[in-house]
Amino acid sequence: MIQEGLRARSRKLVMEMPRPARDVERLAPYDAVSSLSAIKSLPKGTVPLKLDWNESSIPPSPRVIEAITGFLSNGHHLNWYPELGAPKVRAALSTYTGVRPDSILVTNGSDDALDLVCRTYLEPGDDVVVVWPTYGHFLIYVKARGVQPRLALPEDPYAVPTATILDTLRDDTKLVYIPSPNNPTGTVTPPADIAALCRAFPATLFLVDEAYYEFCGVTSAPLVAACPNLVVTRTFSKCFGIAGLRVGYLMTGPVIMENLRKLYNPKSVNALAQVGAVAALADVDSREAYVAQVRAGRDLLGHELRRRGAEVRVTQANYVLVRVRDPQGLVGALESVGVFVRDRSRMEGFAGWVRFTVGTLSQMHDLIERMDVLLETRPDLLASFVP
Ligand SMILES: Cc1ncc(COP(=O)(O)O)c(C=O)c1O
Repeated sequence: MIQEGLRARSRKLVMEMPRPARDVERLAPYDAVSSLSAIKSLPKGTVPLKLDWNESSIPPSPRVIEAITGFLSNGHHLNWYPELGAPKVRAALSTYTGVRPDSILVTNGSDDALDLVCRTYLEPGDDVVVVWPTYGHFLIYVKARGVQPRLALPEDPYAVPTATILDTLRDDTKLVYIPSPNNPTGTVTPPADIAALCRAFPATLFLVDEAYYEFCGVTSAPLVAACPNLVVTRTFSKCFGIAGLRVGYLMTGPVIMENLRKLYNPKSVNALAQVGAVAALADVDSREAYVAQVRAGRDLLGHELRRRGAEVRVTQANYVLVRVRDPQGLVGALESVGVFVRDRSRMEGFAGWVRFTVGTLSQMHDLIERMDVLLETRPDLLASFVP
């Protein structure tokens, strides 16, 4: 009986497939390309220099590994759900940031925080302004809500973007995305500008992405106590060395927090990530030593590349930009010696630029040595960009 009914209906529906939401159907898949498989197939003995995704270039503090290994000695920590809402991470983050625990939400990477804000606040017809060029993944979260973001594109991509944001912002703009330092330009938006924008446009949500905060030390986090329309996001993927565990967080005032909590999944930060994040925060010396290495490393790399004739931008984050005539050629040549960097030259307004994640001083010396070997036979690799 059921079989007959199913046969009759499936004939009728044979050409139809379940359709995704209209706004998702229109999206192109996010074209993230990982170098991990290329790294795995490197010849034996080649030490990879993974400098393409701005992760920490070294493993986390041994205290993180110890904490996770100890935690795994009780198998129940895997068959039980994690602690809801990551309370220990929140408490430790409150000490680290100076922000009240109830103003902090721990998420599955800061990507998850950005997505949560978009899912909670955006609907078709909303106006969203995004400082550009920037972290492209954010656009997916916006477009998935049926919103076509408007790009605030400053004439000089290295200028503080506040004036361009003001020019682009409308009175009814729902959300403005301001990464600071911005990826890839490295621009830092002063907290005083953020506070002024929040006060002038109380119906607009200002989303300040501080994924690279630790490398520059400038933050808008203390403003969340006074600016109810501000959200600040951060991550454990950069200076804490646990990008693979996926932990991020956001800070905001009580009204936005109450709305975000309606969609927030308190189980979304896994048990190992929670243990790893607490241990990473506790090892202040490791973090400070790594940040100091990166700060010295970016100056060293900038200096050495300039000495070899390249056009260079040293940012306040953990990356340095190099503008060359043949970005793909440079990326490919470096790959042949086990160095992975990111071609950003196809971003609008960013022709010619290649981004190098900065690691420790010894890694940067290693990078320069490998580059010099290449330059012996390919002196054109750092040749100037021609518009
Ligand atoms: C500006 C910016 N925001 C967010 C992220 C994502 O960080 P997470 O690993 O915490 O999801 C990145 C990653 O590169 C980034 O550059």
